[in-house]
Amino acid sequence: MLENNIPEGELVVSHSFKNIMGSIRLTPFYTNKDTSCVLYNADSLNVMDSIPPNSIDMIFADPPYFLSNGGITCHAGKRVSVNKGDWDKSKGIEETHKFNMEWLKRCQNILTKDGTIWVSGTSHIIFSIGFAMQQLGFKILNDIAWYKINPPPNLSCRYFTHATETVIWSGKNKDSRHYFNYSLMKKMNKDKQMQSLWSITAPKAEEKIYGKHPTQKPIELLERIIWASTREHGIVLDPFTGSSTTGVAAYRIGRYFIGIDNNKEYLELSKKRLEFEQRHKHVVKEEIKKVEHKADTLIRA
Ligand SMILES: C[S@@+](CC[C@H](N)C(=O)[O-])C[C@H]1O[C@@H](n2cnc3c(N)ncnc32)[C@H](O)[C@@H]1O
Repeated sequence: MLENNIPEGELVVSHSFKNIMGSIRLTPFYTNKDTSCVLYNADSLNVMDSIPPNSIDMIFADPPYFLSNGGITCHAGKRVSVNKGDWDKSKGIEETHKFNMEWLKRCQNILTKDGTIWVSGTSHIIFSIGFAMQQLGFKILNDIAWYKINPPPNLSCRYFTHATETVIWSGKNKDSRHYFNYSLMKKMNKDKQMQSLWSITAPKAEEKIYGKHPTQKPIELLERIIWASTREHGIVLDPFTGSSTTGVAAYRIGRYFIGIDNNKEYLELSKKRLEFEQRHKHVVKEEIKKVEHKADTLIRA
């Protein structure tokens, strides 16, 4: 059995989670039956302003990449626009950097002293994110190269196929002593040290049964991130939650979750996904146990 396994019983409502919910002066868009996942429909900067400092164990942020510039890509063999929505249109590199500084500053303030943040991005924003983290004094721990295994071909044939995204993992500041579930990561990697190159496919069809978000992340990516960097019952926040892939993964693993998005449609999708998880939690736990068992068998083989 892998360590840090999912709790058998119901989640015990943590007092600090309750306190955080109480301090956010907004009616939640949705709270699940277990009171372990809560969604807010608002600007994440405003919500983070009302969260007590030093209260969140881990943040995953998949911010706008600001890449909706009228370009073309390939989807299911067809030429399609890269545009994701108005929220993803760039106002220029200075504005992008200012925005990144503002939300990262708030993330840093609400992280616990040993808490960590993960931020995903492509070349459109990742250099600004890295620079902003350096300016704010985060402690950069790893830059993960997420290899997307089966990326769409490059239609112009003038560039290499874009096959990776970067996920930067950082501690709150230079004094933070971050948590890393080293042994679990090693076990998940057939008993070899897990490297910073992660091969994970794009979200599978079953992850989109209620519709899809234009930039939806795979559950496997978020499960790995949450397993690696949180303890049982830890509090996870996603300031750009979209379809709440982070929330689904957090719920499966037995963590508390706060998701924020200023788009109601995406939160409707989030709600459906989280309700599905609640209805099927026993089946999902059985599936996770099977995967754990398979990992143990592989290690022994
Ligand atoms: C890249 S997507 C996140 C997708 C998500 N990781 C998923 O798996 O579905 C970024 C999200 O940020 C939201 N967003 C953009 N600016 C925001 C802001 N200032 N406050 C809250 N949400 C915002 C957008 O509506 C969008 O859903």
